[in-house]
Parts: sequence; C-alpha cells; structure tokens
Amino acid sequence: MMEDKLLLIPGPTNLSPRVRQVMAKPQLPHVGSEFYGMFKETVALARYVFRNEKGVQYVFTGSGTIGMESSVVSLVSHGDKTLTLMTGYFGHRMFMLNQVHGAQAGSIDFTEGKAADPDSLRNELRKNKYDVVFMTHIDTSSSVVNPVKELVDECNKAGVLSVVDSVCSVGGVPLDFDALGADIVFTASQKALAAAPGAVILAASQRAIEHMEKRKAPIESYYMNLLRWKPIMDDPRMYLATPATQVITALREAMLELKEEGLENRWARHRKLGEAARSTVEGWGQKFVAEEGHRADTVTSFWVAKQNAGDIQGILEKEHGIMVARGLYEERDKMLRIGHFGILSVETLRGALGTMGSVMKDLGSVPRDVEVTASDKKR
Ligand SMILES: Cc1ncc(COP(=O)(O)O)c(C=O)c1O
Repeated sequence: MMEDKLLLIPGPTNLSPRVRQVMAKPQLPHVGSEFYGMFKETVALARYVFRNEKGVQYVFTGSGTIGMESSVVSLVSHGDKTLTLMTGYFGHRMFMLNQVHGAQAGSIDFTEGKAADPDSLRNELRKNKYDVVFMTHIDTSSSVVNPVKELVDECNKAGVLSVVDSVCSVGGVPLDFDALGADIVFTASQKALAAAPGAVILAASQRAIEHMEKRKAPIESYYMNLLRWKPIMDDPRMYLATPATQVITALREAMLELKEEGLENRWARHRKLGEAARSTVEGWGQKFVAEEGHRADTVTSFWVAKQNAGDIQGILEKEHGIMVARGLYEERDKMLRIGHFGILSVETLRGALGTMGSVMKDLGSVPRDVEVTASDKKR
C-alpha cells in the first residue's frame, strides 16, 4: 500500500477523501443520463469558480497545456501578430505555441522575477498593432503574480484580444472573469481546485467566440478547436471525444467542496498560506525569486545559495514524506518551489515548513542561528 505523501509541489495537490472516493466509483459512461446531469453541474460549478455569467464556460479533457494550445489555435490564424508577456517558463511556452501555430509571435521578456509592467505593454501596443496578447496570471516557475486586471485593461483600450493563463491561480487567488474583461482565461484541474490532473477549465468571452466564428482561415486543429467543444458543454452526449469521466467527476466533487468552503473564504485561506510560506522563507534568510509585491499566494520560489536543492528535496521526500519541487531545467539545483494550494491547511503547511527548515539547517542552507520549529509529527 502506497503511503500518502504531503504534496507541496505546484500541482498536482493532495486529494480530499471525498474526491478520492468519487474516483474509485464504478465506471460512468459519458453517454448516459447520470453523466449528463453530473457534467452540467460541473460546468455550472466552473462558472461559479470563474465568476463567469457572461461568457461561454468549458470543461474538457486535457492538461493545462491543452488549455494554452486550444486558446492559441482557436484565436490565432497564420500570420496574425501576437504578443506574449514572458515572466517565466510558462510565458515562454505560450510564446513557443504561438510560433508553432504560425503567428508572427512577438514578446516582451521581463527579467526573471519581475512582473509584467502595464506601462511597457501600453507603449508596445501604441507602437505596433497586435491581434492577441497572451499573459500568465501566476507563473509557476518564478511565483510571479502579474497585474492581470491592469494588463487586460491596456489590451481592451487598444482593442486587442487577451488570453490569461490562470493555471496556477483559479480557485486560489481572486479572479472574476466577467469583471476582468479578458477573452480567454483557463486553468487545469490539478492545481488550486485540488482535483486529479486531466481537465481543462476555460472561460471564453462572447467576443472571443465571435472572433473564432468570423475568422477567415478555419481553426487548424480538430481536438483543440474551441468552437467544436462549445455545443458539447450543453450536451456531453453529443460525442466529440471520450471525456475522462473519473477526472470530471472528481473535479465536480472538488468544486463542490470549494463551494461549500466559499470562494472568498478559499481565497482568504490561500492568502494565509502565502503569508505563512513567505514569512518562513524570509525567516530562513533565503532570497525570493519573485520581486516584492508580486509574490503568489499559491506557490513560493526561492534561490538556494548552496545549490543543493536536490539534496533538500530528496531528504524531505525520503525521510519525511514531504514533496517540494525544484526549479525547472537549468534552475534545478538553484531553486526550490513550494506549492501551497488546494485543500492544504495553514497548520499543515506550517508544520511541514518547520521540518523543511530543519532539513535545510542540517544541510547548511539555513544559518545555524536561525530558529526553526520542526513539526514533531513525522509523516
Ligand atoms: C502557469 C501554468 N501554465 C500552464 C501549465 C501547464 O499545465 P500542464 O502541466 O497541466 O499541461 C502549468 C503547469 O504547471 C502552469 O503552471
């Protein structure tokens, strides 16, 4: 029997007992009436989570990258001019997806740890004409939170469509799709919603849908064509592709739990989680990757001066059953990332951070004179 680990990675998160039970139920066929009712409720819950009353709400099978790529391929025709605000690894992925799909892809590359700045966007939109702007709400690689409302406002003033990758945000930090005014916002099931990986949850404005309907060149994808998925949201029995029914039932249960907690209470709990992580990491004397004022409540990234991120991660997992993440690619040894979202309580996080602090102290990554309160509960 596999033992439960405490997942403090930036997704997937630990699942609640209720979500786990739902995933173990007998197979639910997607063509039956039971799944139909359940799916409609899932879409309604997704509207609640996104605060989306005006736009089209989607829930379909795929990882967050399918959310990214379906936004690009559905909105962008070959030769369209797009601008990606790059504030970390996932901004860069969005830029690459624009290139892959034939856009004249431009970018503003903000220095690592810096948030995208609305003035730079405004200046760029004055200088050059773009069709779509892409941005990341919270870049999970750097933990930077971007000022999405100001950025989207700049796009709207310039009459440019905007897409927000909120994979690391929705359900964890305030987001109101209708008030934001963006054209597409999406997330994935395994992050702050605390469901299993495998579902894209996406909101599209009426303007985005009109743009897709009016575009001259057809959307160059079968599966990632958001126009094809639209009628399925009203009736999933109209077959397009077999949905991951367990993942969707788990997502419904996780969003029911979220609704029981209340969206605003959920945001407030994540604020406390963020504050607990930041004050602890600061107490350890570590350097945050994200600049002050733009640090996320869902994930905290910091530089490990001794470049022994792998050792810290390994001991935490093997000896304490706590999983944290390292930086991506060339930052693997230099950076640690703590995911703190989903169903996690502030008490559990504090206990685990105490353990992490003492491991880091033993390995010489936290100064000897820093006091860390290790959790006495060995996981
Ligand atoms: C901000 C952001 N965007 C996109 C993705 C891609 O999601 P997935 O790995 O589910 O494809 C991730 C994954 O961590 C992410 O954090």
